[in-house]
Amino acid sequence: AQQAERQRILDTLRLSRNQLLEVKERMNEEMARGLSKQTHEQASIKMLPTYVRSTPDGTEHGDFLALDLGGSSFRVLLVQVRSGTKSNVDMHHKIYSIPQETMQGTAEELFDHIVDCIADFLKYRDMRGVSLPLGFTFSFPCHQRHDVLIILCCGYDIVYENIIENEFDLNFVAVVNDTVGTMMTCSYEDPKCEVGLIVGTGTNACYMEEMHNIELVEGDSGLMCVNMEWGAFGEGGELDDFCTQFDRVVDACSSNPGKQRYEKMISGMYLGEIVRNVLLDFTAKGLLFRGKLSERLKTHGIFETKFLTQIEKDRLAMRQIRSILQHLGLTSSTCDDSVVVKEVCSVVARRAAQLCGAGLAAVIDKIRQNRNLNQLSITVGVDGTLYKTHPHFSSIMQETLQDLAPQCQVTFHKSEDGSGKGAALITAVACRIMTQDN
Ligand code: BG6
Repeated sequence: AQQAERQRILDTLRLSRNQLLEVKERMNEEMARGLSKQTHEQASIKMLPTYVRSTPDGTEHGDFLALDLGGSSFRVLLVQVRSGTKSNVDMHHKIYSIPQETMQGTAEELFDHIVDCIADFLKYRDMRGVSLPLGFTFSFPCHQRHDVLIILCCGYDIVYENIIENEFDLNFVAVVNDTVGTMMTCSYEDPKCEVGLIVGTGTNACYMEEMHNIELVEGDSGLMCVNMEWGAFGEGGELDDFCTQFDRVVDACSSNPGKQRYEKMISGMYLGEIVRNVLLDFTAKGLLFRGKLSERLKTHGIFETKFLTQIEKDRLAMRQIRSILQHLGLTSSTCDDSVVVKEVCSVVARRAAQLCGAGLAAVIDKIRQNRNLNQLSITVGVDGTLYKTHPHFSSIMQETLQDLAPQCQVTFHKSEDGSGKGAALITAVACRIMTQDN
């Protein structure tokens, strides 16, 4: 009876093929709404034009500076791109920490710090006074800093003043999203790569869209990369039919309730929380841990993605799962408990991978339809710890994609350092196009 009751609860986290097709369909509708001038404001996914109009063609060359602003650190990179032979990229970097008060302070304070770091880097490389094009990436969770983005996108004045004070000559060419950086890094090696995907702490995707479909930008010819910001899918209620009580609790207890609903069902930052909430529910109903709740299990964020990944490793003995559970303060767990915990992890991760695959099916099928093709062969550049380390995520995602977009042959290419190398490559491509235009 206990087993049946657990399965009844877990079934709410299992999605049928029809439900996944529905997710694909709704993603497709939201993409169209995000691209259209009339509906853009109300659309849950913003489909942001990136002004990246081309992937690398191998003729890019020169020295570029890339700045990568991550969660708590800041990287300055010198990237040297040589044309002719592909993969001919040399990189040197230095990592700087950003004190929490600066990270959470005003945009001006943050830029002051950044400019000091650049000055230090140039001195360290003995490059003071050189003139270099520069690309800037911000990765999760910096995208929540709208003030920073506005300064970067609209008013460089503050940055420029500081730069002039520090007597170096840098030319902001591109403000880059890490997803776009991921696509560009991959497409430098594989020209068929026209989609970028991140499944890590957060999730997002970008792809090359036809200019004539991007109503927010003038011009009808050629392609432009669109940063979907797809983690926000569901903010308009598109996922409500598929959400469980656990998703609702995870959302309500997050720092941004109501936002990023798709991301909260897929990415590493939230999967452990979903699992933890299922385990809490099972325990409260006497279906797990003999009904005894441990204090640690009540702690928000205790179930990190790395545990999820370890628990699902096929060859991991139950004994090892128990030692992970002990680490989580669940000292008196039995072998049966381990089996249940493993199953919960697997159901939650499977749903995440399927949802991600359904979204990707919408993107890739749209590219195929854009080009009036019966069959499309394409590569997706992917990054993110969950995708790279989880033992089953990538295969389940690919199976789902294959099933929901059968007219597409999709290759996945793991991408590295989209926010460093990718930022420099975007800058390099922008410089190549500027030279061609002149
Ligand atoms: C890195 C990329 O390799 O992966 C970043 O350079 C990206 O741009 C990151 O944000 C995502 O992975 P995670 O798991 O650290 O969130």
